[in-house]
Parts: sequence; structure tokens; C-alpha cells
Amino acid sequence: MNGIETIRARLAARYALDLYLPASRAARRLRETSRALRGKRSVATRLEQAEWRGLLPRRSIRLADTGKRSGNVNVAELAILAQAAAATEPGRTIVEIGTFDGRTTLNLAINAPADCPILTLDLPDEHETAFPLEDSERPLVQKLASGERFRACASAWRSFAARITQAFGDSATYDWTPCYGRAGLVFVDGSHAYDYVRKDSETAFDLVASGGVVLWHDYGVWPGVTRALEEFEAVRRLGLRHIRGTSLVLWRAPARVTPHTVAGQDGAEPLHVAAPAATAVDGTPPFLPRE
Ligand SMILES: C[S@@+](CC[C@H](N)C(=O)[O-])C[C@H]1O[C@@H](n2cnc3c(N)ncnc32)[C@H](O)[C@@H]1O
Repeated sequence: MNGIETIRARLAARYALDLYLPASRAARRLRETSRALRGKRSVATRLEQAEWRGLLPRRSIRLADTGKRSGNVNVAELAILAQAAAATEPGRTIVEIGTFDGRTTLNLAINAPADCPILTLDLPDEHETAFPLEDSERPLVQKLASGERFRACASAWRSFAARITQAFGDSATYDWTPCYGRAGLVFVDGSHAYDYVRKDSETAFDLVASGGVVLWHDYGVWPGVTRALEEFEAVRRLGLRHIRGTSLVLWRAPARVTPHTVAGQDGAEPLHVAAPAATAVDGTPPFLPRE
């Protein structure tokens, strides 16, 4: 049974990168041409575009439970996120801001090196927020459950899901400091309101270790995401890259030494986060690397 699940997951990954991505790019070009012919202008995005293969190494990945719900990334974006997880430096943490149903979280866990803990944060409904949310994203917050796709995953993926620590809170006020400088990958996909994208991006910059990667979703889709990322690039010249054919933006942190990275780098002690709200799906203490 697990063997069949694994074969299916490998085929899903091939489909996502080798069929879905080129087809969706061609469809996007057709839509843009059609709009131009009808005299309608598409909203231009300014970040430099790059092929995902120029930004991440291609690894053998698996994609599980790929059915897309409104609010999820598309399957090509899921595959690129899985590639980023697979390329994460062993022992580094993977952080996701915005769990939703946990489809991306599960696939990050399945493809990450075995000793990479995954932390995902979601906003509970009715929780106070530091900044206003966009009205149209409220349905993503007001949901019955969060992370159900890793909590109730197929048996083939349960040992991977056990590496996930699910935390709850507002990304703007959550205490991220124990993770500063320790993340090999940060996926920013929480609120799409401008103030949140700015704040979550600053958090991601603090979290990411040298050589690590930050990925954002919904660039060119949600105005708050597009504006915040273009402003960062205009002011800081970070080298943000819009991954062609997707709404993902990638930034790789340069090699650096900062006060945040002194502990936990270069073979220092393993990560332990004392976040009382964070509880692993199997009830083990948050963030302790597992066997
Ligand atoms: C677009 S969905 C995330 C989709 C998910 N990353 C995926 O790939 O399937 C956005 C999620 O961010 C959460 N969210 C919104 N505002 C937040 C905040 N201030 N702090 C933490 N999570 C937030 C919402 O509750 C929702 O679950």
C-alpha cells in the first residue's frame, strides 16, 4: 500500500513540473495575448523573473494529497516548494506562515531531509490581529479545522507528518525569536494584507539562516503582496526573483554572520523552541529533532 502511495506521489511530482507548469505558462501567455488583442492591459509585475531550475537544484520529490482547495498553492507551486524543502540544509528548520489545511505543510515534511523540523503557524478564528486583514481572506481564517491534511494523512506519510509542529497565533506577535537565524526555508503565505506581508517578510529575513531560502506566494495576485515585495526590492535591492509561470517569489539569503545566527550555526547545539502554544501532532515537545 505504501509502495503504491509512493509511486503515485512520484508521478504527481513529474506531472506537476513537466506537464502542469509548462501548460499553465502557455495558458497564461494565451490569456495575456487575448487580453491585449481586446485592448485590455494586464497588471504588470516588476520583479525580475527566473526559471525555478535556475534557483533550486532538481531533486527527486514526491507529492501527496495534491487535490487543490481554494486557498492552496497550485500543484506546480507545490512541487517547487517541495524542491526547496528537499534542498534545505540538513538540520535546519522549515517555517510556514499560514497553515490553512496543511497540504503544503505535509509536502514540505515529506520532501525535507529527515532531520529538518517543520513549524507551521496559523491564525485561530476570532484571534486578535495586530493589523487589519483583507475582508476577502476571512474565509481562509474562519475554517473548521487547520492542518487537517497532515493530521489525517495516509499511513505512508505519517512518519513525515510527525516532524511537523503546529502553532497558533498572529504572525505579527508570535514569538519567533528562538528560531532566528535557524531556518533553511521560510514560506510566507499568511495574511495578504500589505502590513502583514511587510511584517511577515521582516520576520522571514530574521528567521532565515545564511544560504537559506524565503518563498512568498501570491505575488501578482494579491495587491498587498505585490506592493510589499516590489517596495522591498526597490529599496533594498535584495535580488528577489519571481519564479516564471507561478506566483512564487524566491530570495536566497547570502552567507553572513549576524547576532541572530551566532547560536545554532556551524554545528552548534540542536534547536529547541519553548513555545507553549506549539504542540506537535503526536503530542511530543515542539521542535525537538526526531529519530
Ligand atoms: C492562503 S492560506 C495558506 C495556504 C497554505 N500555505 C497552503 O499552501 O495551502 C492563508 C492562511 O494564513 C492564515 N493567516 C491569516 N492571517 C494570519 C496571521 N496574521 N497569522 C497567522 N496566520 C494567518 C489563514 O488563517 C490561512 O490559514
